[in-house]
Formats: sequence, structure tokens, C-alpha cells
Amino acid sequence: MQLGGIGSHGTRFGQEDELLAALAPGTRAVYVNSPNNPTGWTLDRSDQRAILEHCRRLGIWILADDAYERLYYEGADGVAVAPSFLDLADAGDRVISINTFSKSWLMTGWRLGWIAMPAELIRDVGTLIEYNTCCAPGFVQKAGIAAITQGEPVIAHTVARFRAARDHSEPDHPGVRSGP
Ligand SMILES: Cc1ncc(COP(=O)(O)O)c(C=O)c1O
Repeated sequence: MQLGGIGSHGTRFGQEDELLAALAPGTRAVYVNSPNNPTGWTLDRSDQRAILEHCRRLGIWILADDAYERLYYEGADGVAVAPSFLDLADAGDRVISINTFSKSWLMTGWRLGWIAMPAELIRDVGTLIEYNTCCAPGFVQKAGIAAITQGEPVIAHTVARFRAARDHSEPDHPGVRSGP
């Protein structure tokens, strides 16, 4: 197996052609982390569509690391969500979205997350998880439920803090452009 990578330069993607060329026949999967750590670049809808359509044609799996999808500055009322492949995917698409409570709900270290994937993978991925990270303790799962049902103010507060830090530091660094 060969592994390849396309770096991101700055906060914008801007390398669609290079990425699509790298995703040649025989490629098994592409891992996409958007919004990205550490650069912050974020795929827009049209780039996502182009990647998804290309991967559909070639049967390539998309592993979408959506860890930062809620830490996104665009959108109204603190409910912004970055564009996700899940919004575009059909039931039969080879799209796996991997997510975590660590970032948006400040639960780093709690080892709790979730995966959205085609139903036929659930059994094998369950086995993989069982023998790698077994298991999420009950009280941590309850914390996850609390995060989902009551955690929106935490996200809104965190995004506001990050936005303020960005706005504060940007004028001091004219060469730095912020992403969405
Ligand atoms: C892009 C990205 N994905 C996933 C993770 C992992 O998150 P966790 O293992 O805390 O769920 C991190 C953590 O830094 C990250 O930056």
C-alpha cells in the first residue's frame, strides 16, 4: 500500500486539481480533515461536490474527519456548521464521517466520538473498536447525551472566544489571513 498526501497552504484549499489528479484509479481512500487542524482551511461546497463526484466515479472511500465542523465562524446565531460530505452523500456512497466530542464540547480526553457510515460497515468497525479502544464508559456516554441536548451554549461561547482571539491577533499580523 502506498500513502500519499496533499498539504494545505494557508487557510484556503486551492489545490483541487492536484488532489483530484492524486486520486487515480486504484486509490482506495482519501482522508479529508476540514475544517483543518492546524491551518483552518475549510472545503467549500463546490470543492466537496467535485471530490465526491470524482470518488464516486473511481470507487474511492472518503474518510471525512469532521472534528471541527462546529467550530466554524460563518452562519447565524451560533449554530454554524461547516459544509460536510454527509450533506451531499447518498445512502450508497463510500463516505465515512468521523467525529468527536473533544473539540466542540471541550471534552478532550474523554475518548468519546461517533462515526456515520454505511450500515454494512458497522459490524466490522464495531469489532475494530472493540479490540482497540474498548469501551466508552456509561457515565461518559451520558456526558455525550448532555452535550448534544444541552451543549449548544458551550459551542456558541467557544466560537465567540475563538473569534475574539482571531480578531484580536489578525491586525498585528497583516500577512495572516483567517479562514471561515
Ligand atoms: C483533526 C483532528 N481530528 C481528530 C482529533 C482527535 O480527537 P480525539 O481523539 O480527542 O477524539 C483531533 C485532535 O486533536 C484533531 O485535531
